[in-house]
Amino acid sequence: MKIEAYAKVNFTLDVYGTRPDGYHALRSVVMPISLADTLEIETTADGSITSDTGYDDDLCVKAARVLRSQISNLKSQISDFGAQGSDFGAQVGVSIHVTKRIPAGGGLGGGSADAAAVLRALNELWELELPLPELAEIGAQVGSDVPALVLGGAVLMEGRGERVQDLRLKTGDLNLVLVNPGVHSSTREVYAACRAREKDASSPTDAMVAAMKAGDFAQIVAATSNDLQAPAVKLHPEIADALTSLRTAGATGVTMSGSGSCVFGFAPDSATAERISADLNFRGLQSWPVTTRLS
Ligand code: C5P
Repeated sequence: MKIEAYAKVNFTLDVYGTRPDGYHALRSVVMPISLADTLEIETTADGSITSDTGYDDDLCVKAARVLRSQISNLKSQISDFGAQGSDFGAQVGVSIHVTKRIPAGGGLGGGSADAAAVLRALNELWELELPLPELAEIGAQVGSDVPALVLGGAVLMEGRGERVQDLRLKTGDLNLVLVNPGVHSSTREVYAACRAREKDASSPTDAMVAAMKAGDFAQIVAATSNDLQAPAVKLHPEIADALTSLRTAGATGVTMSGSGSCVFGFAPDSATAERISADLNFRGLQSWPVTTRLS
């Protein structure tokens, strides 16, 4: 089975205090974008779970393992488990080939997107027929961004990432320009350097959700925000340069995604997004014109 794994940007990311598990509590609007890895997934009969990404901590493999380990629990909930029989969990493996386009460690959720695509594909290949919210819950065991990407569409993400809500937007897709400053931004380091918001402080995420529900482009552009941007810029001045280049080239609402280092901005139409991106490429920056992917 061939499946596209769409990257994401965070239109907002509010960081609140640390939780008992050491993670920060977040509120974020997560938006899938058209930049994607392509995964080819085949089941194997010998029980092996492999991928060719070459990453030590491969989220594709982790996703398949977590889902398979859940199968015995799921079996009690699923009345008809097809012809697979009782030893299904132990025997069925999967081989995953990834054509990588999403830069790793860029705040675009590359590894999480691949993991989410594996969960969705195996849900079909293994005939599990799990509803997406249940698959998203399993995804929370794989990584913080996985539940939002399993759901797809514009998602309000809360907690550590495990509480997700499809915003069910029906507005048209938006044109964006991405820039990769080419530095690796460590998620752990950026969170550690971030000053958390007060619990009852206003939430930029609420303003974004309202703007998106109203379908108001100017308000959406004005509402972008990321609490991790200031600490990330302090750690990596290259991110500040990328933000400035994107603004100077004509993008609006220019903001960093996730814990960085990639940044994005809006363009009023696809021709403008392409022109801005070509401009930045010409000046030696890695840049892509992309669109949001609501469906
Ligand atoms: O989600 P991931 O495992 O990539 O996160 C890496 C590190 O970033 C965590 O170990 C933690 O230090 C920090 N983090 C956090 N709060 C979050 C997500 C990540 O403090 N919600």
